[in-house]
Amino acid sequence: MKKIGILYGQERSFPEAFIKRINEKNIDGIVAEAVTIDKVMQAEPTEYAVIIDRISQDVPFYRAYLKNAALCGTAVINNPFWWSADEKFFNNALAVKLGVPVPNTVLLPSKDHPEDTTAASFSNLAFPLDWDNIFEYVGFPAFMKPFAGGGWKHVYKLEDAEDFFSKYNETGQLVMMLQEAIDFTAYFRCYCIGRKHVRVMHYEPRNPHHLRYDAHFNIPDELMKQIESFVLKLNEGLGYDFNTVEFAIRDGVPYAIDFCNPAPDADINSVGQENFDWVVETAASYAIERAQAQKPGQDNLSWGTFMSDAIKQSVGSQVKAAPQKKAVKKAPAKKAAPAKSADPKSALFSKIGEAKAADKDDLKKLKGVGPKLEKMLNEMGIYTFGQVSKMGKKEYELVDSMLTSFKGRGQRDDWAGQAKKLMK
Ligand SMILES: Nc1ncnc2c1ncn2[C@@H]1O[C@H](COP(=O)(O)OP(=O)(O)OP(=O)(O)O)[C@@H](O)[C@H]1O
Ligand SMILES: [Mg+2]
Repeated sequence: MKKIGILYGQERSFPEAFIKRINEKNIDGIVAEAVTIDKVMQAEPTEYAVIIDRISQDVPFYRAYLKNAALCGTAVINNPFWWSADEKFFNNALAVKLGVPVPNTVLLPSKDHPEDTTAASFSNLAFPLDWDNIFEYVGFPAFMKPFAGGGWKHVYKLEDAEDFFSKYNETGQLVMMLQEAIDFTAYFRCYCIGRKHVRVMHYEPRNPHHLRYDAHFNIPDELMKQIESFVLKLNEGLGYDFNTVEFAIRDGVPYAIDFCNPAPDADINSVGQENFDWVVETAASYAIERAQAQKPGQDNLSWGTFMSDAIKQSVGSQVKAAPQKKAVKKAPAKKAAPAKSADPKSALFSKIGEAKAADKDDLKKLKGVGPKLEKMLNEMGIYTFGQVSKMGKKEYELVDSMLTSFKGRGQRDDWAGQAKKLMK
């Protein structure tokens, strides 16, 4: 007997109908049920030939359980390893390589420092970023959204650079993407199951939630075929067994907007009866197919062409390289491009300016600065009240990152404010 399990969170309509449909088919040697977990032991197989995962994006414990299950032979839909590695920005980049149109998109570092990091952790980041170029490439209006996320959370539509900076300030530690807005005449959301079954659903994102699938756009058959072929191409590349891809149509070109939905919405109340029936039937038949093909104790996961080609290539090059090991010449090292302002020092002095020892002010006049700290500041290149007066939170942090002691004094004692008064 081969068991098909489904792992899910708060949703009800899809998991229940999926289990019911498989069992109704009454196929010899196949049964479906909700997954039950009462213990997870390393390298121990589960009782399931196939598990459909609808929730591990929200429950890390489940993701780890599924990786262990996959190692021991369960065909997990979708591949938990790939799902852990994947995010929307990579997806966009892969789409470009696969020849599927996507809006111009850039990745942005999080506005706030991630937990347990400071300015000193970002020596590799130019400050400021090349905003002019970024804005020129993306244009306005633009969308800003998390590089990994879903459910329209933290999705902003931005009118101009000022609007961008004010919203970017709200994004905390989230890593965001800034993306060209596609002014669309039609929009589609497409299920893709098993990298072979596609259902294109007309979708109007500007409608209220319950009416989004209540839409119809007239488009030529050619364009419909192109959408279907792009859906397959993206899912073959990524290796997802169950996903949705969204397209916005502008000037007859389908731009892929959102195609990292490995637990796509399949609730009857949002997708409607017809789409629901299709997704239940297709997912049930596909899960049965995977259960029948599953070989206990082996890798039964799907891997996209991006991964499988990369592995083939690296295995191929190892085989080729092996006999000529000695003859391999080291390629001359490429000259590294000079970093714009790659260390804390250059980031600091690009803001406060350089000064010479000859123009030195008596920094000991700043409350909290004694001879020792003054010496340290001088060694860094900070000599004048003029320089100190230009310091802000970032610069205090940069100075702190270069100090071995007395950290935090600049901000605590408001050196910049004091320096401004001393200069009067
Ligand atoms: N570049 C864009 N051009 C035009 N519209 C966009 C663009 N990006 C996002 N949108 C609009 O914002 C909506 C939400 O964006 P997106 O689908 O990327 O976010 P999400 O959080 O993944 O949403 P979900 O997973 O619920 O579909 C889209 O359905 C679309 O209507
Ligand atoms: Mg979406």
